[in-house]
Amino acid sequence: MKYSRIAGTGRCLPQKVVTNAELAKSVDTSDEWIRERTGISQRHIAGDDETTLTLCEGAALQAMEAAGVGPGDIDLILVGTTTPDQVFPNMGVLLQHRLGIRTACPSFGLEAACTGFLYALSLADKFIRLGDAKRALVVGAETLSRMIDWQDRTTCVLFGDGAGAVILETADEPGIISTHLHADGQYKDLLYHPWGVSQGADKLVPGHDAVRMKGNEVFKVAVMTLGRIVDETLAANNLEKADIDWLIPHQANIRIIEATARKLGMPMERVVVTVGEHGNTSAASVPMALDVAVRDGRIKRGDMLLLEAFGGGFTWGSALIRY
Ligand code: ACO
Repeated sequence: MKYSRIAGTGRCLPQKVVTNAELAKSVDTSDEWIRERTGISQRHIAGDDETTLTLCEGAALQAMEAAGVGPGDIDLILVGTTTPDQVFPNMGVLLQHRLGIRTACPSFGLEAACTGFLYALSLADKFIRLGDAKRALVVGAETLSRMIDWQDRTTCVLFGDGAGAVILETADEPGIISTHLHADGQYKDLLYHPWGVSQGADKLVPGHDAVRMKGNEVFKVAVMTLGRIVDETLAANNLEKADIDWLIPHQANIRIIEATARKLGMPMERVVVTVGEHGNTSAASVPMALDVAVRDGRIKRGDMLLLEAFGGGFTWGSALIRY
């Protein structure tokens, strides 16, 4: 039986930082309201020369360096994103070319909103377990700022841009112990972007081109669902709450994160929180938070990690990892 393990992590954030105070100059909001309701102080926003692909590239290069691998070593590329540079070629192929990976390896993008990275990680783990890949580049990346209505205070204060990446490689012992993925389309109208290519360009008119969200309802389902997936993950592995060393949650809102930590009985010191600096970066949020805590030395080899995410669809998922 083969397993996969995380060999290296990386992240890339846009240069430009937008603080709550700066947002309050253009919409009717305040630093106090945003921090109290969400925990967010600032977010990074992609500039004209930055796209999801350039962010993917930056994160991937860091992860490859941390893992000590070069372009010739990668035989699978998966990019979780809702904001690709082009409709096609897909983001995996664009990234393959950008990184000079000439192995003709399978490369694709995968769209599951904020759960995109965990969906991609789960799939890459299965490729490796089945022996169909030896070393995978797995990325979660977004430029959600490009589909936000910057006049809508109920959404524009929440989101940011970025990319996080891991190199997954074959191992004798399980690094990725289990992954758990779910989706329920009955919630499709609570958090969505209304336009897609198939609707025709004439439908892409102001008011039809931005993320829409019923924040209150999303909040309630997120707390309930993430609580359930924590239970599911522990039960599937016969583990107790105390066996988890680090919770690495999707960074949407500090109050959702605190509710999940309470459910796990975890002190906030054992929870990786980046929402204050990054905002909600959708598919990029979990791998960026992982990279932050790996690089600052909090997460050490051998630690037991619980990653979880929740996003539009709804989609949600978790991964239990021996780092
Ligand atoms: N500044 C000031 N006031 C605001 C703002 C703002 N930015 N946004 C909303 N308000 C107002 C509302 O208009 C409302 O005013 P009213 O009472 O006069 O009608 C009041 O604040 C309260 O609004 P609520 O929506 O009830 O505020 P709530 O406490 O629920 O916080 C929030 C809103 C932060 C969006 C919260 O519901 C939330 O975080 N929901 C989850 C969102 C989320 O996590 N989405 C992403 C998950 S999935 C993914 O990542 C894609």
